[in-house]
Amino acid sequence: MTQLFSGKEVSASVYESLMPKIQALKSKGITPGLAVILVGDDPASAVYVRSKSRRFASLDLFSETIRFDGGISQEKLVEKIQDLNVDNRFHGILVQLPLPKHIDEGTIISVIDPVKDVDGFHPENVGYLTVGNPRFIPCTPKGIMRILSYYDVDLSGKHVVIIGRSNIVGRPVSILTSLKKSFSNATTTICHSGTQDIRYFTNQADVVVTAMGVPNFLDESFIKPGTVLIDVGINRVNDDSEKGYKLVGDIHAERVSEIAGALTPVPGGVGPMTIAMLVENTVEAAEMQSGVGA
Ligand code: GUN
Repeated sequence: MTQLFSGKEVSASVYESLMPKIQALKSKGITPGLAVILVGDDPASAVYVRSKSRRFASLDLFSETIRFDGGISQEKLVEKIQDLNVDNRFHGILVQLPLPKHIDEGTIISVIDPVKDVDGFHPENVGYLTVGNPRFIPCTPKGIMRILSYYDVDLSGKHVVIIGRSNIVGRPVSILTSLKKSFSNATTTICHSGTQDIRYFTNQADVVVTAMGVPNFLDESFIKPGTVLIDVGINRVNDDSEKGYKLVGDIHAERVSEIAGALTPVPGGVGPMTIAMLVENTVEAAEMQSGVGA
């Protein structure tokens, strides 16, 4: 039987371990604060941002969501970020991606003060991660590594195959899994839209990470028995429920269920970890900026 790796369970342990740090900051009058910028009306982004701010509220942390119409100019957005960079209520700044096409994401990310870049997307933070000395690790990749270590999956000497090369998930996961550090040290392959035969690679994998956004893409024909599967996909598929849709991953959970060694469910797998790691990074940012606990 395939073991389910529960992001709900791992994230609960993360929140528990953060409590003393949050208390230490609060005892010095510091409440970790996050500014979230949401541009436009993408429904999935709105859901993610709402879950982030609810979690901050439930932990008595400070967060503010700043919403802009999809037509906002790049200049206005840059100005807002520059204001937030010097607003010391906020230890972290997150710009929810994707942004509308007329705004250059790279330009926007590089305006965020790197010490407030709790997403770890600023080139300075990407550089620190790449040389093996991370400051902020992007939340989803960090959450994936935390799930693997919680369930005692040591990657050393294993073959990790990642499907997807985005700066948010695939690329940083490839760096983290191949670092010469304990629980990492894997041989890592990135497959992407230019890969000719994805099965050729996934059939050799000990661990597969799917981050493509294609519902139920990976089935039993892609894996060998015992493979650990990490599903980053959160795809809306229409159905006749009250909501009109359900969420499914990039992995066909039913079809791999007798073959995979382990699987992260969708929902309840990687998703809750992304939020837990955002909270952790914001607490770390508050510690760094205040000198408390760091
Ligand atoms: N869009 C999808 N995932 C993320 C994320 O982790 N951070 C931001 N800023 N945008 C996203």
